[in-house]
Amino acid sequence: MKHFPRCDATTAWAALGGHYQAHGRDLDLREAFARDPARFERFSFEAPELFCDLSKNRLDAATLRFLADLARECGVEAWRDAMLAGEKINLTEGRAVLHTALRAPPGAAPFSDEVHAGREAMLAFAESVRARAGDVAKPLRHVVNIGIGGSDLGPQMAVAALAPFAEPRLGMHFVSNVDGHDIASVLSRVAPAETLFVVASKTFTTQETMANAATAKAWFLAGGGSEADVAAHFVAATTNVEAAARFGIATTFGFRDWVGGRYSLWSAIGLPIAIAVGAAGFRELLAGARAMDEHFASAPVEKNLPMLLGLVDVWYRNFHGFASRSVAPYHHGLKRLPAYLQQLEMESNGKRVDREGRALPYATSPVVWGEPGTNGQHAYFQMLHQGTETIPVEFILVKQADARAGSSAAVRDALASQQRMLLANGLAQAQALMQGRSTADALAEQPQAPAGAPIDAPTLAAHRTFPGNRPSTTFVLERLTPRSLGALIALYEHRVFTAGAIWAIDSFDQWGVELGKQLGNRLLPLLEEGGGRAGEKPALDPSTAGLLARLGR
Ligand code: F6P
Repeated sequence: MKHFPRCDATTAWAALGGHYQAHGRDLDLREAFARDPARFERFSFEAPELFCDLSKNRLDAATLRFLADLARECGVEAWRDAMLAGEKINLTEGRAVLHTALRAPPGAAPFSDEVHAGREAMLAFAESVRARAGDVAKPLRHVVNIGIGGSDLGPQMAVAALAPFAEPRLGMHFVSNVDGHDIASVLSRVAPAETLFVVASKTFTTQETMANAATAKAWFLAGGGSEADVAAHFVAATTNVEAAARFGIATTFGFRDWVGGRYSLWSAIGLPIAIAVGAAGFRELLAGARAMDEHFASAPVEKNLPMLLGLVDVWYRNFHGFASRSVAPYHHGLKRLPAYLQQLEMESNGKRVDREGRALPYATSPVVWGEPGTNGQHAYFQMLHQGTETIPVEFILVKQADARAGSSAAVRDALASQQRMLLANGLAQAQALMQGRSTADALAEQPQAPAGAPIDAPTLAAHRTFPGNRPSTTFVLERLTPRSLGALIALYEHRVFTAGAIWAIDSFDQWGVELGKQLGNRLLPLLEEGGGRAGEKPALDPSTAGLLARLGR
């Protein structure tokens, strides 16, 4: 790989700094729209399966020009090409990063034969599970995915998003937490003979997943199943086939270490998705992602939506200093998208050293968080509108709904009306964030304080003032389908890649998870011994020792 300067050593970085001081910091969106009636057209972009309006962001043509220069100076396109070609760009683990190969057509990416053979086996199995749901004598009714992190969040998010396309006779459940309340609540709702467990773990060593799988197996055996039945009711998705076999699992769907956990829903880890929406639906998901991959691989930086989004993330994080970004999907099926994105972005780009291990003088991943609209509006949107921080918001609007509840025309009309309300709310929030409300308008709207209020009208108007000029991005999807969901997820993957490439970090390792795991493993035996007494464990800090003693009593 050719050497590229780190972002803070580029000409574009310096230019962006100057541009921020001269124009960026004080850019007022209301004035920008007034100056340029074509701003919406100028800053909206089409990508496969979606439309993106960036016009309500604090940027102008020069910002995008400097950001595109930054991408070129930092070698984003070269890093992208290296990723797509299977070079070992995950430097600290010495691994290629090839989730894009999982959605490439035959022959178009490395490991093609292996990928296609593995997928066909997985999809054939998914279809057989769906067929068992229709078995009159011994129907299968439940699928329980046991996994955590990337082996949970992606499949769980996608299954929820695609519920209208799912096999209605199968209950899809997801267990992740080592907290036994999680699995106990699922086990109390299913019966052994009617349940398939998918043990999903790239490594097949993750504590939470191993503990939950062991509990599920014990429950299954206690419920009358035999060891031989375990083979029919437990399958695995893993790179560690031997460990799955030791567990008693006969059917394993494998994948390779070049599939990162948080990028793995396209692999065998996507089995629950394939069971829910069928082989055809899963292929559509892959096709949507593939279309976005092609866009990412070929569009010039200026029109490359994942790159532009990643660059705007850098602009906001490093020049405006915005420390978080809120994601508000206006589709209830996307309720797990913020959690999924937290892992995708924060595990990928929450890094403090560059590729050479030097501590970074600039910020990396923002905090990503959110809830589906309109629920978030009645919770934290207050802070987005009137808090002291500026938090860019991302609205995801889906034009056509797939909500159904029976065949009554009246209910259909009611649901159609709710869909219009949903969209109006999303649009209104973005508008309110940008427009705000001046103190003069607040006063004109309510010239008197309420009778008996211990404040006067101008004071009340100060409370009712919205500063506005708060940035947001709006995505529009025609419909939430397997294909458009695939494109949306791939868009986020490549956006995270772009920001990581600019920041010169390894976006594909996750060493930050390790220390807690190691210490947890050291504390577990102490708890099992009964916690000991504070002071008896000289290696522990007094706080941990004290808490351990209290919990172990
Ligand atoms: O949290 C760390 C992590 O390694 C994630 O990256 C991964 O998705 C998760 O644990 C689960 O790992 P596995 O699939 O190996 O059980």
